[in-house]
Amino acid sequence: MTWLTVSSPASSANVGPGFDSFGLALNQPRDHIEVQVKPGSGKVEVEVSGRSEYNVPTNPEANSGGLVAKTILNRVGDRFDVRINVTKRIRPGCGLGSSGATAAGVAFALNRLLGLGLSRGELVLLAAEGERAAAGSPHADNVAASLLGGFTMIVSHNPMRVYTITPPRSLRVCVVYPLVEYERKTEKMRFVIPSTVDLHDALWNIWHAAAVAAGFALGDIELLGSGMDDAIVEKVRSSLIPCYSEVKRRAIRAGAKGVAVSGAGPAMIAFVKAGDTDPQGVLRDMLDAYIEAGIAANGFVTVPGEGCSATLEDE
Ligand code: HSE
Repeated sequence: MTWLTVSSPASSANVGPGFDSFGLALNQPRDHIEVQVKPGSGKVEVEVSGRSEYNVPTNPEANSGGLVAKTILNRVGDRFDVRINVTKRIRPGCGLGSSGATAAGVAFALNRLLGLGLSRGELVLLAAEGERAAAGSPHADNVAASLLGGFTMIVSHNPMRVYTITPPRSLRVCVVYPLVEYERKTEKMRFVIPSTVDLHDALWNIWHAAAVAAGFALGDIELLGSGMDDAIVEKVRSSLIPCYSEVKRRAIRAGAKGVAVSGAGPAMIAFVKAGDTDPQGVLRDMLDAYIEAGIAANGFVTVPGEGCSATLEDE
């Protein structure tokens, strides 16, 4: 039997004003997902290894990858069984698209193994279904970035249309997150979002989203960093993100071009231009905000990453 092993990257969604549209694939960390298909009746088995404290569900309905497999098997008439082994390296619940990486990896693998020939839009939509397991509702920004790599923009959901831009080579991404546990964090963070918005806030976000998209397209890190501000979603979530203002203030003071909550948080990302500012210095200053507040935190510097990639192995 053939196993397909997929390397699927972490991602940072929203990138400031682009709620449920913008995503950035990160080079590290990446989940490794092995997928095997054999003739059967629609059974899905999920195993998770890696750090035990990550506590990732293995029930296929509660696991983002398991849910994607169930959805795909159902579409092809439940004629196969699927085994999924996830080696989890992306910490769940911290805002780095952990569930999205698994969902994307499984959709990517099954498209190959079953020869489904899905378009990128169809793959993104299927993978987004897996996010129901973790977030209660589908959102496609993380899975688009994990599947396709680089900077991704969802421009329409129905039909699903997604565009990618290769980020500037000198872009460095500083990532920090407090070591706090939030159960069903994304679901809770989506619950606080207002259902109506003020026109001025909407305009603010449109201008800033335009700056982020134009900055990526032009390779202008100053411009894209200047657009990383969100008057709608981040505004209401910021009080729930430990050290939000202090991390932001310190990153900008240290030379970051822009700072935002990563996805639904609590991770935060800062964009730095290599050759202009030392990203390790920015990272240290961001981490100091947590140290001074007495909150345990982790962080690292990475670069934008490629999307899912696969290798085949025979058993
Ligand atoms: N766009 C989603 C949100 C990303 O902010 O809720 C979650 O990772």
